[in-house]
Amino acid sequence: MVAITFLRLAALVSACAGVIGSAMVSTLQLHEARKGVPAGFSLHGAASPDTVLNLRMALVQNDFPGLEERLYDVSTPSSANYGKHLSKAEVEQYVAPKPESVTAVNAWLADNGLSGTPISAAGDWIAVQLPVSKANKLLGAQFSVYSDDATGRQVIRTLSYSIPAELKGHLDLVHPTITFSDIQPLLPVVSPLLQANPQAENIAANPNAVPASCNSLVNNKTAIVITPACLQALYGIPATPATQSSNTLGVSGFLGQFANNADLNLFLTTFRPDISPDTSFDTQTLDDGQNSQDPAAAGVEANLDIQYTFGVASGVPTNFISVGDNNKDGLFGFLDIINFLLNQTAPPQVLTTSYGANEGPISPMLVQNLCNAYAQLGARGTSILFASGDGGVAGSQGGTTCSDFVPTFPSGCPFLTSVGATSLPDSGIETAASFSSGGFSNIFPTPPYQKDAVDAYVAGLEGAEYNLTAKFNQSGRAYPDVSAQGVDFAIVVNGVFNLVSGTSASSPTFATVIALINDHRIAAGKPALGFLNPFLYSSAGASALNDITTGANPGCDSTGFPATEGWDPVTGLGTPDFAKLLAAALALP
Ligand SMILES: *[C@@H]1O[C@H](CO)[C@@H](O)[C@H](O)[C@H]1NC(C)=O
Ligand SMILES: *[C@@H]1O[C@H](CO)[C@@H](O)[C@H](O)[C@H]1NC(C)=O
Ligand SMILES: *[C@@H]1O[C@H](CO)[C@@H](O)[C@H](O)[C@H]1NC(C)=O
Ligand SMILES: *[C@@H]1O[C@H](CO)[C@@H](O)[C@H](O)[C@H]1NC(C)=O
Repeated sequence: MVAITFLRLAALVSACAGVIGSAMVSTLQLHEARKGVPAGFSLHGAASPDTVLNLRMALVQNDFPGLEERLYDVSTPSSANYGKHLSKAEVEQYVAPKPESVTAVNAWLADNGLSGTPISAAGDWIAVQLPVSKANKLLGAQFSVYSDDATGRQVIRTLSYSIPAELKGHLDLVHPTITFSDIQPLLPVVSPLLQANPQAENIAANPNAVPASCNSLVNNKTAIVITPACLQALYGIPATPATQSSNTLGVSGFLGQFANNADLNLFLTTFRPDISPDTSFDTQTLDDGQNSQDPAAAGVEANLDIQYTFGVASGVPTNFISVGDNNKDGLFGFLDIINFLLNQTAPPQVLTTSYGANEGPISPMLVQNLCNAYAQLGARGTSILFASGDGGVAGSQGGTTCSDFVPTFPSGCPFLTSVGATSLPDSGIETAASFSSGGFSNIFPTPPYQKDAVDAYVAGLEGAEYNLTAKFNQSGRAYPDVSAQGVDFAIVVNGVFNLVSGTSASSPTFATVIALINDHRIAAGKPALGFLNPFLYSSAGASALNDITTGANPGCDSTGFPATEGWDPVTGLGTPDFAKLLAAALALP
């Protein structure tokens, strides 16, 4: 850990050293700006000059390209260093700011009567409190009150800010400034399931081609409902308990949500009577994250996520991380949870998150910085999975008018695995769920591991009945990478059975498969899989997935992307085939 000290440099010394001192007149240079107020927000009025802002500042990392190279080196199956994940200290060596950056930023703050507190283990993030009036002067900004049209939530943001010219190359970004995001749980549909009846023998005739365990009685009619037994049948997920106590599956929760033990208990008694109802998950809280266990206050999203991780990843130690919104920074703790996990010596080997937003309203520099944080955790050996979003090509929630397709965050980050959704029709042949978000980032270029797969898909679109190429950024990182069932999952919320749908269900399901595979790898004396994508896109990885070739994700007045043979921006490479994935994973060093 790099200690940040706040020495006030003498003006002469700092001038000689080329950093900012009080004797120098510093020129502010525009750092980030937005063309106007993003859709969905309105200017409410001026911010009170005395309101104290809790700004966070990122210092430029000394060698992120070096870290990226190491990430690929330890994650690419053909590399001699596959699986040789980095330690906490090794990662921090790459991302800690250079001493001259620390000196320059601290001198600037000190000259303005301010000081920063480190909020990341590597010292690349600091927190600084200052009133609006001072922030406006320091950053050539105009912090104002904006309100979210949908929720009425008010935030203090600026449409642009500048930093002293001398700090370019030292100060990466200031947050929250031009970020107007609205991160949401990705859970669009909840409907009550009147009877939970997973016993196939109670269903007179099996009228469809799906596994018997995928039929339940809903309103006295046979309906296809996803339960743990159904997922086990569809994907070959074993019911045998995992054995390795060092293997952990992390589940993140935001916005005051927590997972309820009593609901999990009823879920297990109903759907997994073979799992002892006395076992449970652990909860960690951060930023005043909630965990009252009041069943009426627990979240639908949190309950879904824990029921389909703990309830399917039999015996894998599972951690729910409940993150509060102390910082009110529009990111609902995304920055905090990643800094929290990067500060652990043994972070979970798998992390699943079913929350997201659209990429556009977030500061591009912040998007890059967070993505780099996922690379750091990936280099440590964590597989990071995110739900791709529920708005088809129209973004994370859809429902917006759009002509160009709307990419989602953080799925556009190349250093994580984005999970789309499928559904199970009567034919028993998995098809793309129409809400499954997929597309191309406007910030990150296509990474090498997916270039061939994406090029082949885009080439297939040309001349097809679809004229979509003008609606997305062909040079961008494309997502999702994989998919899993996401329609009509049976869950328990506040003692009642419900059906829920969304990529929110898909990400925990895929995470469960990876956690169970890690159990076998660890038992065989091998490291966890870590950053998955180079393996998944390799021929061994891709052929261990069920290719989904039907359906599409409409939106923005278009048919959306069609699912096709091979990778596509609806279902990625496909859904898990446990036995094949396990064999391919165990063949890796
Ligand atoms: C990292 O964790 C240690 C304890 O494990 C704690 O003392 C320290 O404050 C943490 N650092 C940050 C930046 O959160
Ligand atoms: C289901 O069927 C049973 C027996 O036929 C009947 O008593 C019950 O009211 C039905 N429930 C619903 C929700 O229709
Ligand atoms: C398209 O994506 C690239 C990154 O691959 C980015 O540099 C460029 O700005 C994007 N174009 C638009 C119009 O957003
Ligand atoms: C597809 O759309 C682009 C942009 O709108 C247009 O220039 C092009 O002519 C269209 N191609 C076809 C085959 O319709």
